[in-house]
Amino acid sequence: MPATTDELLELHGRIRACTACPLHATRTQAVPGYGPVTARIMAVGEAPGETEDREGKPFVGAAGQLLTRLLQEVGLDRRDIYITNTLKCRPPGNRDPEQSEVDACSHFLDEQIAMLEPDVILVLGRHALGRLLPGGGTITRLHGQRVRRGTRVYVPLYHPAAALYNANLLETLQQDMLLVRRYLDEAEAEREVALKAQAQQAIPAEPPADQMALF
Ligand code: URA
Repeated sequence: MPATTDELLELHGRIRACTACPLHATRTQAVPGYGPVTARIMAVGEAPGETEDREGKPFVGAAGQLLTRLLQEVGLDRRDIYITNTLKCRPPGNRDPEQSEVDACSHFLDEQIAMLEPDVILVLGRHALGRLLPGGGTITRLHGQRVRRGTRVYVPLYHPAAALYNANLLETLQQDMLLVRRYLDEAEAEREVALKAQAQQAIPAEPPADQMALF
C-alpha cells in the first residue's frame, strides 16, 4: 500500500537533516523532493542546482521550467508528479555527482520509490539512469523506451538541461514525452480492463436450472 503524506514528510525531514556525505557542508539546504504521495508518476533527475539549493525544491530553475513545459505539452500537470533527484544536495559548482555521494544518498531514493509505488518513473539523464538502471544501456540507446525491471516501469529521457540549448535534443525530448503519454494511456486502459474483469468475477454465477426450481 502506498505511504501516507505524514510518512513521506518524515522521510523529507530525515533527508534535510542528513550529514552522511560531505555535500551537507556546502549545501544551503537539502532538496528532498516535491509532489503528492499519491502521484502515479515520479521523475528523477541528477542533483539540485543553484536555484534548487536556494529554494529547497527540485527542478525550479531553467531546466525545471522546461520540464514543466514539456509535461504540459502532453497534457500532464507537474503538480500531479512527484519530482526528486539522485542526490538530494547540490554538488559545488554543479559538478557531476561522485560515486561515494550517490552511494550515501541511494537509500533515500529507494525509500521514496517504495513509498509511492509509482506506475512509471521518468529517468532524467545519465546520472539517474546509472543509478536506477545500472548496466542497462546508455541514454542515447534507451531514451523514450519503456523499461521494466521487477515490478517497476521506467522511461529514460534526456535531461531537460541538455535540451535547453540544443534544438535537436529538445525535439527528441518532445517526441519521447508523447511516448510517455502513450504508455500512460495504455496503462490506464489496461487498468480499466482489469477492473472490469474483477467486477465480473465478483458477480455470483447463476445457479443451475435444477437448483432454480428450489427458489
Ligand atoms: N537538474 C536536476 O537534475 N535536478 C534539479 O532539481 C534541477 C536541475
